[in-house]
Amino acid sequence: MSAPAEPRDIRPLAGKRVVLGVTGSIAAYKAADLCSKLRQAGATVEVVMTAAAAQFVTPLTFQSLTANAVVSDMFLAAEAEAHVEVARRADALVIAPATADCIANLAHGQTPDMVTLTALATTAPVLVAPAMDSQMWAHPATRANVETLESRGVTFVGPASGRLASGRTGAGRLVEPVHILGALRAMLGKQQGDFAGRKVVVSAGGTQEPLDPVRFVGNRSTGKMGFAIAEAARDRGAAVTIVTGPVALETPYGVARVDVSTVAEMLEALTAATLDSDALVMSAAPADFRPESPAGQKMKKAPGQETMTVTLVKNPDILASLPAGGVRVGFAAETHDLAKHAVEKLASKRLDFIVANDVTAAGSGFGTDTNQVTLFHAGGTVEELPIMTKYAVAHAILDRVKALLQ
Ligand code: PMT
Repeated sequence: MSAPAEPRDIRPLAGKRVVLGVTGSIAAYKAADLCSKLRQAGATVEVVMTAAAAQFVTPLTFQSLTANAVVSDMFLAAEAEAHVEVARRADALVIAPATADCIANLAHGQTPDMVTLTALATTAPVLVAPAMDSQMWAHPATRANVETLESRGVTFVGPASGRLASGRTGAGRLVEPVHILGALRAMLGKQQGDFAGRKVVVSAGGTQEPLDPVRFVGNRSTGKMGFAIAEAARDRGAAVTIVTGPVALETPYGVARVDVSTVAEMLEALTAATLDSDALVMSAAPADFRPESPAGQKMKKAPGQETMTVTLVKNPDILASLPAGGVRVGFAAETHDLAKHAVEKLASKRLDFIVANDVTAAGSGFGTDTNQVTLFHAGGTVEELPIMTKYAVAHAILDRVKALLQ
């Protein structure tokens, strides 16, 4: 068995330098939250602003959040040639919020301010999050400008629909910072990630097998492990589909989600999703058995009834039923004899490797943000990994999947 590996900085934007361009919209206050989220994700952030943006939020706010100087007037910038230097250093330029005026200037290569100057001077990928009134967003001039920019490779996220500053309702709201962050991670993954061009399918959550219209046979899976794998694969550039049982988690930006309830539905959805996939990571907890004859109406207790017997019948084994193809990774949720059971499942389910977790151990298994797993490979190798966040475990799994794909 190999020694536990040293966990590396697994934050999704670790080592990345993100330039955040802020333009003059009331939504500029949300850019402060985005700034903070970018830093928490590991990015070094530099902010450039228009003079109008500085009317809504002061440069000092961003300076405090980034620990970097903020440039809103290139003639007053401390650094000579700031417009070129900031642009040159960037791994990505995010413009949020982007006004209609800013989008028009970007489309026409005009540079009246530090944000558009930086955009013209950078070769880094550009993500634009628009914010404006719905009529401005729908205007043919804006539509044409967006089309021009998209044809040049600029990525747009949003706008969202909802209540606007004008009091109207419609498309034009800045999308929430968490989605801008997701879109940035997806954009960088597609351009620079080692899974770019790959399709990864992930299953997550537990299934619910109905007993009657209000009750079911289920388990404690929250979907956290599977969603972390989907997010990590998305960050590395994969096109990701997640097939999930009922869970209370938001879909990571850019991930295609298929909601299912029962094993039969999960099998059907995975059969379709894996037709052209490069890898399947099966972290869901499907029920091995289901009630034989679910009642059509809510079951009632009879007077004096003390016990109830339900006959369960075997569900299909999803992994064993899916046609072969691509890298196959299973999980083993164990409470005892982890290695013995994991190795049996590895063989019977025809997997490339299986990720075994002791679901009774502290910080592991159901509902936790961390997991301690042991990987059992088809060739006989065993790797015991240290306890890590589920996102870090996801990357460790994807590292092995990548090696198999090569
Ligand atoms: O969702 P969380 O709260 O984050 O919890 C994560 C987790 C504990 C659910 C996850 O880490 C995990 O262990 N998932 C596998 C759960 C499980 O069903 O394990 P199993 O040992 O019963 O099944 C072995 C493998 O066969 C699994 O890959 C499972 O998805 C698959 N299986 C199981 C039953 C079935 N009918 N068909 C299957 O394909």
